Amino acid sequence: MASVPSLASTVDQRIADALSAALPEAGSADPLLRRSDRADFQANGILALAKKLKGNPRELATKVVAAIPTEDVIQEVEVSGPGFLNITVGDRAIIETLAARAADARLGVPHAERAGTTVIDYAQPNVAKEMHVGHLRSAVIGAAMVEILEFTGEKVIRRHHIGDWGTQFGMLIQYLIEHPHELDHQAAGGSRPGADPDPESETGTGTGAAAETSGEEAMSNLNRLYKASRALFDSDEEFKARSRDRVVALQAGEPETLALWQRFVDESKIYFYSVFDKLDMEIHDPDIVGESGYNDMLEETCRLLEESGVAVRSEGALCVFFEDVKGPDGNQVPLIVKKSNGGYGYAATDLSAIRDRVTNLDATTLLYVVDARQSLHFKMVFETARRAGWLNDGVKAVQLAFGTVLGKDGKPFKTREGETVRLQDLLDEAVDRATAVVREKAEKAGLAEPEIAENGRYVGIGAVKYADLSTSAVRDYKFDLDQMVSLNGDTSVYLQYAYARIKSILRKAGDTRPAAHPELPLAPAERALGLHVDQFGEVLAEVAAAYEPHKLAAYLYQLASHFTTFYDQCPVLKAETAEQVENRLFLCDVTARTLHQGLALLGIRSPERL
Ligand code: ARG
Repeated sequence: MASVPSLASTVDQRIADALSAALPEAGSADPLLRRSDRADFQANGILALAKKLKGNPRELATKVVAAIPTEDVIQEVEVSGPGFLNITVGDRAIIETLAARAADARLGVPHAERAGTTVIDYAQPNVAKEMHVGHLRSAVIGAAMVEILEFTGEKVIRRHHIGDWGTQFGMLIQYLIEHPHELDHQAAGGSRPGADPDPESETGTGTGAAAETSGEEAMSNLNRLYKASRALFDSDEEFKARSRDRVVALQAGEPETLALWQRFVDESKIYFYSVFDKLDMEIHDPDIVGESGYNDMLEETCRLLEESGVAVRSEGALCVFFEDVKGPDGNQVPLIVKKSNGGYGYAATDLSAIRDRVTNLDATTLLYVVDARQSLHFKMVFETARRAGWLNDGVKAVQLAFGTVLGKDGKPFKTREGETVRLQDLLDEAVDRATAVVREKAEKAGLAEPEIAENGRYVGIGAVKYADLSTSAVRDYKFDLDQMVSLNGDTSVYLQYAYARIKSILRKAGDTRPAAHPELPLAPAERALGLHVDQFGEVLAEVAAAYEPHKLAAYLYQLASHFTTFYDQCPVLKAETAEQVENRLFLCDVTARTLHQGLALLGIRSPERL
C-alpha cells in the first residue's frame, strides 16, 4: 500500500524550498498555503515574512517566484495583490496523482506518523434507565472517531463506561427482593420460555436472554420497576433505610445482592444492544466496562491520592481543590473523591478508570465523548490525575464534548409531556420517513420491496447520524427529521444519492472502463473535483488530530457538490472522445470510492442503487 502525497503538500514543499533558497535569512518559513478560487492555491506566507525582514513583500514575492521550479506539478505562479502567490498546478499532475490514489486500497491516505493507543470512552448509557438523545450523540460521534482513528493507524480500545453502579441500585434491588416476580416477563405480558423463577440462576445469561426478550420489552420492565421503586423510596422511610443498607451489601459484594444487580445489568444490555443494533452500530461485550468494573480499585485510588496529598480530608470527605473552581459564594468547590459516609461517587470511578487505562491498557490518549455539561467534572478529574502523575507528557486526556440536542422549538428535546423521547421511536420514525423518500424514487432506480426497506434503513439511520456529525460537536443542534431526510442541502441523503448516481453512471458505461488519461486537458469542473478528491487524506489527518468529525462531513458534502457541478458541466458517457469518456469515468470512480470510504468512516452506508 503506497501513500500518495497530495498536490497541496507537494506545492507547499516546493514553495517552502523556494522561500529558503531565495531568502536564506528567513530560515524555514511556512508558505501558508490554502486552496483558492483564483488559482488552485494561494500562498500568503510572504506577507508576514516581509514584515519580519522589513522588505517589500511584492519584491520578495518576485524573488521567490524565480526560485520555484515550474515543470511537473506547478504550472504557473503569479504574484498578486500585496504579495500573495497564486499557484496553478498542471492538469497532468492532477490526473496522475489521482491515478496513484486509485491504485491504492486506502486511496493513498498515509498512516499517521506517530500512532499511539487511544482509549475511547463512548456510548455509555445507564443501567435500568431509558437511553436519551445524549447517549445517541456519544455513540454516533464516538463510533465515527473510532473508525477515523483506526484508519489513520491508531490503536483504538473502546470502553463503554455504562452507569451500572451507585445508590439507585440499592433501591432497585431492595424493591426486587420485596417484589420477587417483578422482573419476570409475564408481568409485562411477554412470555419468556423456560424462564427460571430463581433469580440467581439468571446471572450471566447475556446473549441467551437476548433472543427471548426484545429490547423494548426489557426496557419497559425496567422502567416500570424503576418508577415503582422510586415511588416507594420517596414515600416510605423504612424502605429508604433498607435500600441504603442494600447499597452497602452491594458494595461489599454480598452474593444475593450481586446476583440481582447482575439481572438488572443483563436486562439493560438486551435493551442497549437493541438500540445499537437499530443504529447499525457494533458494540462488543468485552468493551463494556461500566463503573462497577473499577470497584476493586476505588480504595487504592483514594489512598494514593491522600498519601500524595493531592486529596485532603474536608468535613469528613476526601476532596481535591482547585484554584479556579468556585461556587457562587466564592468558596472553592472540591471534587469529592470519597463522601463522608464512605461512599464512592462518579469521580472515584473515573479516576480509577484513568489508572486502569494508562497502566493496564497502555493508553497514550484518553478520549471521552461526553456531554459538554460534564466538562467541569472532567476538567477536575483530569487535573487531579495530572497532579497524581497518572496523566503526564506521555498521556493526554481529552473530552470531546458535545452539545445538547434541541427540539424544533429550540428547547431541550423532550416529548410534549416533558418526558425523554424514546430512542427506538425516534429511529423508527427516521426510518419510516426515509423509506417514504426512497420509495418515491424506487421505480426509477429499479428497486424491489426488500431493497426499499433496506435502503430506507440505511438512509434513515444515516440521516440521524449525519445530522449529529455535520455540526461542530460542541454546538447544540436541532433534531429536525424533515430537514434530515431532505434530498437537498447538507444531508446524508444528498451524499448517498450522489454516490448512487455515480454508481449508476458506471453501470451504464458497460464495457467502457474508467481509465486515467493524464495527457488530456481538464475542464474547470474536472480540476475542482480532482483537487478536492486529492485532499481526502489531509482532511482525515486534521479530523483525527483535532477530533472534529464534522470537518469530514463538510468535506464529503463539498465533494458531492463538486461532483454535481462536474456532472452538470461535463458530459461523461457522451464526452467527445473515447479517452475523455474513460477519463471522466475515472474521475467518477475515484470520487465514488472517496465518498464511500468517507461515509463508512462516519458509520453511514452508501447503497449502490437509490
Ligand atoms: N453514563 C454517563 C451518563 O449517562 C456517561 C459516562 C461518561 N463516561 C465517563 N467515563 N464518565 O451521563
